[in-house]
Amino acid sequence: MSKSISGFSKLSKRGKLRWLVENFFKDPENVMRELMSYWLLNEEEQKILDGFSENTISNFYLPFGVAPNFVINDKTYAIPMVIEESSVVAAASSAAKFWMTRGGFKAKVISTKKVGQVHFMWSGDANKLEEVFSDLKIKMQEDAAGITKNMVERGGGILDIQLINYTGVEKDYYQIKVNFETCDSMGANFINSVLESFAVSLREFVAVQDHFADEEKEVTVIMSILSNYTPECLVRTWVECPVSELGDFTNDIDAEAFAKKFCMAVRIAHIDQYRATTHNKGIFNGVDAVVLATGNDFRAIEACGHTYAAHDGHYRSLSHCKIENGIFKFWLDLPLAVGTVGGLTKLHPIAKRSLEMLGNPNAEELMMIIATTGLAQNFAALRSLVTTGIQQGHMKMHLVNILNHMGANQEEKDAACKHFIDKVVSFNSVRLFLDEYRSGTSGNVKKKSILKN
Ligand code: HMG
Repeated sequence: MSKSISGFSKLSKRGKLRWLVENFFKDPENVMRELMSYWLLNEEEQKILDGFSENTISNFYLPFGVAPNFVINDKTYAIPMVIEESSVVAAASSAAKFWMTRGGFKAKVISTKKVGQVHFMWSGDANKLEEVFSDLKIKMQEDAAGITKNMVERGGGILDIQLINYTGVEKDYYQIKVNFETCDSMGANFINSVLESFAVSLREFVAVQDHFADEEKEVTVIMSILSNYTPECLVRTWVECPVSELGDFTNDIDAEAFAKKFCMAVRIAHIDQYRATTHNKGIFNGVDAVVLATGNDFRAIEACGHTYAAHDGHYRSLSHCKIENGIFKFWLDLPLAVGTVGGLTKLHPIAKRSLEMLGNPNAEELMMIIATTGLAQNFAALRSLVTTGIQQGHMKMHLVNILNHMGANQEEKDAACKHFIDKVVSFNSVRLFLDEYRSGTSGNVKKKSILKN
């Protein structure tokens, strides 16, 4: 049987699934039934989900969790998080609880500019193009007025337009770089529509420039597209308190020793790229989970964040820490282009509820919430790393996954959770415990004695 197909996209959803299971699975009927069991019962709601993507055959579930007790700028939030990794929500919640009694998190939006570019080739005298560029800018804006009208009414639109001459790097290559304000929307469709209109205006404009030589009357537009790198769509979030108020930590680490170790851990992530990548991954544990929960584009956010982390030419920590005059300060600057209208924000039923849970924030408030969750996550991870080590907390949360993986029943899970309260969890230690428990030789809780009672 052939494993390739023409016209797959034209098949019905059931037809796609049937073709797939018959070609790629050993037990087609069962797999078909299983994948269909994840379809929503409400057909209308299922159609909305299917509309988000293409060639859909089922739904892929991820846990939807909540991190309560986040005090940000004196307002308390319960933050929705969608993530598959254990201990992330617990860590964020625990950092939120820690800072709740130390003044909470503070956050401010520094700027909200989005970026788009028209990339084009033009073989002419660069001075001539620069001379007429102000006229071209007027034409481009006039031609795009129909597209920008509503955004302008909302207080946004085109902020500025620049001509960038890249011919020193690549023969004939220029760029029109545009800054936008897109208010509460992420703005991707708006920006791309404006840029495509600009590209048409550009071609028309050069074609009628009488003083241009014939070969200068033609432009080859390579592409018109937003940039996901938005270093000027930036938010800052921070926590601070006197070092003495940090309290004492596990393993007899006092506040001062903790603060110093913590700052050094951040410093290491500024020096070393291997550490910086993991450090920033920890930040994105929190960021992505809220971005996903609120129906925003986590690939765009990640791409932008990592580019920003290398904005001085060296990939570094996105967060910073200092101790000054006895005050511990830990902060994060993060570019975040997110929306609270448009896209999936209101279409995805749970994204809609997530935004409602947050009090239907505008885009700027959402930027502050998302960045703060990233900072909280980073704080919790570093606190563990410089005190107990990561495995203690992380593996405690991961225990249930290991037990499920080993096919433990509820009684065995209960016994294991009790047993591992004060012990280090690892795959091997859990396997050993289960073996002993099943054979009735486990030290603390013996299966045989439970069964007898
Ligand atoms: P703990 O001290 O054992 O927690 O910490 P606790 O039992 O004392 O509870 C304190 C609070 O923590 C709770 O307050 C919750 O807020 C939260 P309460 O609700 O009782 O009022 N909490 C939980 N929330 C939900 N479900 C739970 C739960 N348990 C505690 N089951 C904790 C345990 C996991 C919080 C701590 O060890 C921790 O923060 N660990 C860090 C875990 C982490 O960072 N995980 C991310 C995955 S590892 C990774 O990918 C990133 C990394 O590589 C990044 C890097 O290297 O920088 C580490």
